[in-house]
Amino acid sequence: MKNIKESALELIGNTPMVALDRLWPGPGRMLAKCEFMNPGASIKDRTSLSMITRALKRGTLQPNGPIIEMSSGNQGCGLAVVSAVLGHSLTIAMSAGNSPQRAVMMRALGARVVLAPQVEGRPGSVTQADAIETELLAQQLVAETPGAYYVDQFNNANNCRAHEETTGPEIWRQTAGQVGAFVACVGTGGAFMGISRYLKRQNPGIVCVVAEPAGAQTIKGLAIAEPRHLLQGSGYGVVPNLFTYDTMDGTVSVTDDEAVKYRDLLARKEGLYVGYTSGANVAAAVKLLESGQVPADAWVVTLLNDTGLKYPDQTRKEYVGYTSGAYVAAAVKMFESKKVNGWSLY
Ligand SMILES: Cc1ncc(COP(=O)(O)O)c(C=O)c1O
Repeated sequence: MKNIKESALELIGNTPMVALDRLWPGPGRMLAKCEFMNPGASIKDRTSLSMITRALKRGTLQPNGPIIEMSSGNQGCGLAVVSAVLGHSLTIAMSAGNSPQRAVMMRALGARVVLAPQVEGRPGSVTQADAIETELLAQQLVAETPGAYYVDQFNNANNCRAHEETTGPEIWRQTAGQVGAFVACVGTGGAFMGISRYLKRQNPGIVCVVAEPAGAQTIKGLAIAEPRHLLQGSGYGVVPNLFTYDTMDGTVSVTDDEAVKYRDLLARKEGLYVGYTSGANVAAAVKLLESGQVPADAWVVTLLNDTGLKYPDQTRKEYVGYTSGAYVAAAVKMFESKKVNGWSLY
């Protein structure tokens, strides 16, 4: 029997759900959607497909017309996959603080990536001030590009709709309706809002919880104590425009150390090499199961948002050692070659 996908677009969504039984042997069950298995290696492929196909249908994006977006890199990778298949040119404005691996992937997929300098954060740690700087750059790129379609993931209702129509129903089907709780980090809010809306419609008793970086718990209503954290793509220190409180039952805070700990445990105990927000989601799911706020035998579902291959490892001494050595070697070569002005550092 023929079993051929017609394009990479058909590889988006319908991700497997895996039980994290080695990491959480019970009571209860921890289940995770493998969003890193999308072709752009993150959950944002789903929203890319939804926002672009709907813009084409509405005529706000012309066939083969130029697409522009601001992104921490994952939305950009998803848009690059969709743009490659549908024949659009794509320009992404990204903060220089986001992981360089994402820029490498977007460029390999044919996108133009323009970096906004960091104004507040540090490499690997991007704040709201950096996001505003990146948005200004994106707006400038739109003004310079005739016929450009600006995706605007932070205000685009089709961002939430993608998850309401795909991820939510998949979770419901894959657990045969036994899902008891859902936990996720919030960037634009698209994933949390779309999934929680769908799940609450099926069963209002499903507990839906937001995971926030400790120190930047704006959805909980706290003042920002520390805007910098490792959860790139989420926790911007604002309540995003797409976020509403009607489907949220509570929040859980996660420190960088906890996100790193569970990211490592996912790799070593489950064979799943994923990014920091995935570690944070699982850390939050553990806290929820331990809190007694869900029944002891509850099935808690969360998201493995992207692959670990999209990050330099900022937590390991050996990485710092290697890159520092590489930077020094590169700097020496630059001075020796006397070509400093013509070099690109990244
Ligand atoms: C790694 C990662 N995790 C979580 C999120 C948050 O997803 P959402 O924008 O749907 O809230 C993003 C968004 O870009 C992301 O890149």
